[in-house]
Amino acid sequence: MSVLIKGGRILTAADDYVGDVYVEGERISVIGESLDVQADKVIDAAGKYVLPGCVDPHTHLDMPFGGTTTIDDVESGQTAAAFGGTTCHVDFIIQPQGMTFADALEEWRGKANGKQVIDMGYHMAVTDLRAGGTLEDLASLPDQGITSYKLFMAYKGALMVDDETLFKTMEVAADTGALVMVHAENGDAIDVLVKKALAKGHTEPHYHALTRPPETEGEATNRAIQLARVAGAPLYVVHVSCKEAVEPIALAREKGWDVWGETCTQYFFVDYTFLERPNFEGAKYVYTPPPRDKANQDVLWNAVRTDILSAISTDHCAFLWDGQKTLGKDDFSKIPNGGPGLENRLQMIHEFGVRAGRISLNRMVELLCTNPAKLFGLYPRKGTIAVGSDADIVVFDPEKQLTITAANQHSKTDYNLYEGTEVTGSPEVVLLRGNVLVEGDQLVAEPGVGQFVARAKFGQELKAQTPAAA
Ligand code: URP
Ligand code: ZN
Ligand code: ZN
Repeated sequence: MSVLIKGGRILTAADDYVGDVYVEGERISVIGESLDVQADKVIDAAGKYVLPGCVDPHTHLDMPFGGTTTIDDVESGQTAAAFGGTTCHVDFIIQPQGMTFADALEEWRGKANGKQVIDMGYHMAVTDLRAGGTLEDLASLPDQGITSYKLFMAYKGALMVDDETLFKTMEVAADTGALVMVHAENGDAIDVLVKKALAKGHTEPHYHALTRPPETEGEATNRAIQLARVAGAPLYVVHVSCKEAVEPIALAREKGWDVWGETCTQYFFVDYTFLERPNFEGAKYVYTPPPRDKANQDVLWNAVRTDILSAISTDHCAFLWDGQKTLGKDDFSKIPNGGPGLENRLQMIHEFGVRAGRISLNRMVELLCTNPAKLFGLYPRKGTIAVGSDADIVVFDPEKQLTITAANQHSKTDYNLYEGTEVTGSPEVVLLRGNVLVEGDQLVAEPGVGQFVARAKFGQELKAQTPAAA
């Protein structure tokens, strides 16, 4: 199968020019002006942007959490991603307490088999180094293409690890070429605040934010940075939500330390007041860290513009409002934490980042495609448009007007964080390794087209020729 994408505005993190892209099989084989080649399929991209397929480094599909399981499985979550222009994501394996990492990996692969619509990799979330996973077992993962370890410094009594586990994992990462990811909040302090709030009868959703003040995020972010420095491990702080966490990352980066941070789409748009919406609607916005005071939104735009923060993910962790979020109707601490967003990241960042003049088109590509691919061992196979790279391509119509609404989304959840938001610009055609995945409002490819990608170790490139692991 060959595809010729003609006359589009080709955008990478560094380039911006009009040209043709010729795809043979799974890879981009030629890029040039007015290419004189025959192709099985020709896409007229005049007036359109030709972007690399977006890479989402932070998602939770089919994940047991908060007394239930996220509503999007691999098929529905990846379908939503494909319509949003995301062609590769890295999902979290959560090591069940007492289970080896090898068994956890097998369990998660079972959730994906035959259902994959886009390409994917896994991070391993370490929850237990005592009864289940051993340090040797953990050290074996990077050679299997699982090249990042995640630790939760919050969710006491569930996923939270102590500093010993955090530090030992960092040491393994330093030895094996893995990147350490942290959910940085002080879970012990938060647990005290939650118990105190409930004892006073404060059960409504907005207490989720009031019991997780920004200082608890700032403290844990700084602790993780300092411990990673001692262990000699590279560190990536997920879902940064506030000034208190941006500041220690900025300082570490100023010193040239191996520290990176991401924020997520929702932190630019949803603020604390959403949690106060009546009739339990506030529960839709119960994710962690919580929506912050609005002043933080400018801090985050500035941080992504100046490379204090290097990536924007979705942290897609979708639950139904009716039936899952309602588990916490009488107790905010029982509301499953997480929100949807896989489908709308590119549309929202294009509208409110690029069209609003906050970031350039190149920076948008860098934040949504290139940096996630580089940091997580997928580049240059993913995250750019170059000869030899996977033909993961989004033909994006910058003039298309639409209103974001749950009624048209592909996620199985029953609400959208950005309900009613009007945007101009949306993916029109999406290719995955040369296969047309999405055309207009049609999913063209069948589930099964997506593959597991064995990622390169931290700082190494994933060669275009590297075969994908089965
Ligand atoms: O509320 C959230 N973010 N849920 C997903 C798990 C996590 O903390 O990333
Ligand atoms: Zn988290
Ligand atoms: Zn998450």
